[in-house]
Amino acid sequence: MKYDVTVIGSGPGGYVAAVRCAQLGLKTAIIEKYNVLGGTCLNVGCIPSKALLDSSEHYHNAAHTFKTHGIELDNLKVNLEQMIKRKADVIKSNNDGISFLMKKNKIDTYFGLGSFVDKNCIKITGTDGQVQEIETDKTIIATGSKPTILPFIPVDKQRIITSTEALTLTEVPKHMVIIGGGVIGLELGSVYARLGSKITVVEFLDSIIPTMDRALGKELQRVLKKILGFEFFFQHKVTGATNTGAGVTVTAENPKGETVTFEGDYCLVSIGRKPYTDGLGLENAGVQMGERGMIAVNDHLETNVPGIFAIGDVVRGAMLAHKAEEEGVLVAEYITGQKPHINYNLIPGVVYTWPEVAGVGYTEEQLKEQGRAYKTGSFPFKASGRAKASMDTDGFVKVLADKETDEILGVHMIGPRIADLIAEAVVAMEFRASAEDIARMSHAHPTYTEAMKEACLAATENRAIHI
Ligand code: FAD
Ligand code: NAI
Repeated sequence: MKYDVTVIGSGPGGYVAAVRCAQLGLKTAIIEKYNVLGGTCLNVGCIPSKALLDSSEHYHNAAHTFKTHGIELDNLKVNLEQMIKRKADVIKSNNDGISFLMKKNKIDTYFGLGSFVDKNCIKITGTDGQVQEIETDKTIIATGSKPTILPFIPVDKQRIITSTEALTLTEVPKHMVIIGGGVIGLELGSVYARLGSKITVVEFLDSIIPTMDRALGKELQRVLKKILGFEFFFQHKVTGATNTGAGVTVTAENPKGETVTFEGDYCLVSIGRKPYTDGLGLENAGVQMGERGMIAVNDHLETNVPGIFAIGDVVRGAMLAHKAEEEGVLVAEYITGQKPHINYNLIPGVVYTWPEVAGVGYTEEQLKEQGRAYKTGSFPFKASGRAKASMDTDGFVKVLADKETDEILGVHMIGPRIADLIAEAVVAMEFRASAEDIARMSHAHPTYTEAMKEACLAATENRAIHI
């Protein structure tokens, strides 16, 4: 078979690229190593983690806030098996959805490991060992990422686990020691803390979610400690972890240089992810690698080999599903002669803890570093009528705007349903709105979105009404 475009990898980068290529009239193939479509995001990432976050949140609310709402329950208990089964059903329904999209767009799907024979020929090795080859004019590599592992921590997938195993546990841990206070550690830590686990986070730096605006990590840390009993150990350098049979012992060096020991029954290693290119045969096509295992690409996401592109987690930038999707669309449109553009500064980041956390644009630390004159407007959810009605009063919205022009430069939020609210900030910034533009727009009452309006009012000559 001969194709205009072949996409290797069916995650959010790959399958979206394939759909856009097909929409634009290109004869398209997609190759996936596993026998289901959807990649990390759908099978062991975004979707299953959000399914468990939702289930565990229901349980936590039933156990802790229903009574105050006037709802009383007897014999409340967790059925983890059912929770994991529901998660599997959610995944399956999405897998089927992507298969449908491939058929609808007449994209040929190949299951097996894709590997370059040369620039225009790709070999597909099925799990049954069967090999076939296809010819292609252009290729989009979307092979994603895998968890980063520390060489001195043996991940045995039993007691010492990554996010993949943490999504299919058969018991609620008594004490989960989490190495890394980033997005995965806090999201999956929240799942199990809500179900009753004690959670200890051992973090190398001095803050959780350290790449986001510092005010967010500070507030999230306070709330996770207060509501879910998280314990945090910062500036701790992990030195080892051992499966002791019934549990796990994690050792770390504290800021004083002393060795400290944490005993738990599970240890989750969540210290980041690394690009995945194993078995791709990049050398056969002459594709050059960049730094830290990434494939090197130019502004159009084209590698050093004309006609071979790479997108998503396997190239530079945030490892986020929606970033991968935008890149898939960009490459498809670029190949067909359009002039697409991605504003990487406006790709939002979200953490699906409760309260949720989200940010877009520059952080306050970045603006200080740039020496840019800015002003700040903040609004706390404890002053929001909607938040009081739902008892979700932790958190705030913080808007950073240019001191002279009032243009919004960054929006950082922590609070209820922030994951959805951040979209307003993205729209505002994409259209280069000023804080006053948003402050003058009607926001329905009572909604959480009023916090965005109030924060913009606060940034506009301190005009917030409700604080
Ligand atoms: P992937 O989704 O990793 O897909 C790559 C695919 O390529 C895989 O299916 C792989 O099997 C296949 N492949 C690899 N090599 C070959 C080969 N040689 N031949 C054929 N196929 C191959 N991001 C968010 O934006 N929001 C979230 O809420 C979120 N939650 C997450 C939760 C967890 C626990 C994890 C681990 C990640 C989460 N992410 C989230 C990150 C998100 O999953 C990734 O950014 C996203 O999946 C990257 O998409 P991708 O298409 O680049 O690669
Ligand atoms: P991360 O990069 O978010 O966090 C890793 C944390 O581990 C950092 O705080 C880092 O300082 C710390 N760390 C690194 N080495 C360490 C060590 N040796 N000892 C102790 N701490 C150490 O990575 P994470 O949480 O593994 O997630 C991987 C990727 O998946 C992220 O880049 C993220 O973008 C993506 N993801 C996105 C989600 C979302 O959008 N909601 C959810 C989950 C994952």
